[in-house]
Amino acid sequence: MSELKKVGIQGVGYYLPERVIDNNYFVDELGLDTSDEWIQQRTGIKERRYARPDEYTSDLSTAAAKNAMENAGVKPEEIDFLVIGNCTPDYQFPTTSNIVHKNLGLKPNCGVIDTPSACSSFLYALTLGSSLVKCGEAKKVIVVGAEKLSSITDFNDRGTCVLFGDAAGAVVLTEHTEDTHEVLAHTYGNQLNIDALYRPISGCREMPTHEGIDAGRQFTFMKGREIYSFAVRKFYEETLNVVKKAGLTMEDVSYIIPHQVNLRIISSAADRLKFPIDKIYMNLEKTGNTSGASIPTALGEANEKGWFKKGDVIALVAFGGGLTWGGGLIRW
Ligand code: ACO
Repeated sequence: MSELKKVGIQGVGYYLPERVIDNNYFVDELGLDTSDEWIQQRTGIKERRYARPDEYTSDLSTAAAKNAMENAGVKPEEIDFLVIGNCTPDYQFPTTSNIVHKNLGLKPNCGVIDTPSACSSFLYALTLGSSLVKCGEAKKVIVVGAEKLSSITDFNDRGTCVLFGDAAGAVVLTEHTEDTHEVLAHTYGNQLNIDALYRPISGCREMPTHEGIDAGRQFTFMKGREIYSFAVRKFYEETLNVVKKAGLTMEDVSYIIPHQVNLRIISSAADRLKFPIDKIYMNLEKTGNTSGASIPTALGEANEKGWFKKGDVIALVAFGGGLTWGGGLIRW
């Protein structure tokens, strides 16, 4: 067996749909009993983006992947594998990566796979993509996190609909060199808890019925309080885990890019970690929670704004439906 390779990020990119939805939309357009003040105070979210009706997760993924490929300076024929984290596929099959493969004009023998692990899906996809490069199976891999959460949101449920938005982000992975940002470590985990966060009608367990659809069971269902405590705990534990796995300490960490879940969750976890909040990149004020898309979108934005310098250590941490969680560590 050939020697394991170091893995590097060669390029990053993201895409936000054009339509901006502010908090007043839920009151003025939908007539919900909520307010801009409540939403901002409980979540930190001011606005989010919604894709057009004819713009799908595959389109968001394609746009983000093209930006990452341009940033990396790579051509479609160089890509050996495409991994897309998402829980809002265009179809259950073909997978979103099947469709994006065609949109990007990738070669026929470029592999495609989706990781549908909700808010942790990008980090699961990154683990898979990195492993392919690490063992030499693939030279270049595109890893995407993309969601059209507006398509699975119950707009009658004020407790969930105000939280979510649509977005996509992507990275191009390759063997690590001087010119790439090294992927140092991954962590991941799962503890089954179906009804804390799920879409009841979304697979073979519960088939669509008129009663089910009328009750909105095709949309996201969430026990907000339960997810809140889980998210704070996992943010804390998984950041420490991934740093430890890389043989580093929190003193070595320059920035954290967490799943953009909610300002209160992020602030509580930062307090527990005793990590300065101004070194945690957040864009949730403008994007809402975009599940699997949130980390790569935030990474792409932070890079564009010039947040990172060579050598900075960046921790990534996510937690969500499953319940799943994951960590990642990058040296810029
Ligand atoms: N506007 C006004 N009132 C609302 C709204 C709203 N949009 N949503 C809920 N309320 C009401 C509730 O009905 C309840 O009213 P009641 O006391 O009369 O019954 C009251 O506010 C308190 O409800 P809670 O659910 O206890 O409110 P909480 O302070 O926990 O905030 C929230 C709700 C924001 C969802 C919070 O639980 C949370 O952030 N949870 C984390 C969940 C999350 O962010 N999930 C994202 C997906 S999962 C993931 O990405 C990991």
